[in-house]
Amino acid sequence: MLCLGIETTCDESALALLKDGRLLAEELASQTDMHALFGGVVPELASREHLRILTPLLDRLFAKCGRAPADLDCIAVARGPGLLGSILVGMGLAKGLALGTGATLVGVDHLRAHLLAPGLEQQIPYPALGLLITGGHTRIYLIRSPLEFVLLGRTLDDAVGEAFDKTAKLLNLPYPGGTHIDALAASAEPETALFPCPYLDNDNLDFSFSGLKTAVAQFVHNHPLLKLDRLEPEPDHERIVAENKDLARVCASLNWSIARTLYQKVKRGLGKHQGVRSLLVAGGVAANTMIRTSLQDLARDHGLPLILPRPELCTDNAAMIANYGFILISSGYRHGLDFDAVPRGRAVPFDYLRSDDHSS
Ligand code: KG4
Ligand code: ZN
Repeated sequence: MLCLGIETTCDESALALLKDGRLLAEELASQTDMHALFGGVVPELASREHLRILTPLLDRLFAKCGRAPADLDCIAVARGPGLLGSILVGMGLAKGLALGTGATLVGVDHLRAHLLAPGLEQQIPYPALGLLITGGHTRIYLIRSPLEFVLLGRTLDDAVGEAFDKTAKLLNLPYPGGTHIDALAASAEPETALFPCPYLDNDNLDFSFSGLKTAVAQFVHNHPLLKLDRLEPEPDHERIVAENKDLARVCASLNWSIARTLYQKVKRGLGKHQGVRSLLVAGGVAANTMIRTSLQDLARDHGLPLILPRPELCTDNAAMIANYGFILISSGYRHGLDFDAVPRGRAVPFDYLRSDDHSS
């Protein structure tokens, strides 16, 4: 079964081809440079760039492996949650291709796809506890099977990636800020009492990062020399550390507070759901060095495998969309041409048709 994956929920235009669940080829065009100087993704620019780049990417993808759209058996497209205008561009391509080729169409929940991405490369033992940490979401799920996700906790305000990105913006570091904060943090020891580990004094699995963001903003306001003189698209981390040791220490301390908070909540989740057989961590923030190390320790203490995607599968990509689409279609689920996009903040409905239902 040849499956095309399409991902355009944010600022990466990505396509992938999977043959019987195995990755054949990928094409990805990142818009990071375009948005870097704005301190975050500009939605209007993002959708226009997806529209410009997707068809040339598609041509390259097929040329790379000597295939043509007529060879497609299925098309999986990320339907959200994400930036609505951007998703509509990917969905337009998916629906047009499905109409033209007769391939089976399926809309994919971007968040579930992130969590199951490691399944492209290894077996995931279920039930699993899944921590999803991206620029827009912070969630803990009990994943009973690839089709059965139970949401155990979510952020009440900012996502963990936003705490990184908004702090970076304050410091004059470009978007995506998490990578720069992580790199600068590597050169300093954290001061563990500098910032709070937020929203731990309860017994739930929800998160709240807005207070931490405010604490850091207050600290930067009171220490204006921390802030870099100007925003550069590609900051020289070594030079920054040499000139501004305090900045590296602040980055390490923020990193520590976030890593510790995630550690405590996931530990609580493992305590509440003792039958789990693996710990899955996914999303762009899962690339963070300190978070990876602390969750590795936690999994080891619980005798569980920690399943982390390799860095290219952590950030937005189309292989994970094709992978989840393949799982859905193999399980008998599909969409008609009339399914809808899901904006940020809304739950993705499980509104599939069964494959033997040809009413739509
Ligand atoms: O999953 P993703 O690529 O896109 C979304 O769906 O949001 O995640 C992007 C987020 C950004 O907030 C970025 O700052 C963060 O992942 N990120 C990191 C690191 N690499 C990317 N955060 C902390 N440490 C990193 N090394
Ligand atoms: Zn994502």
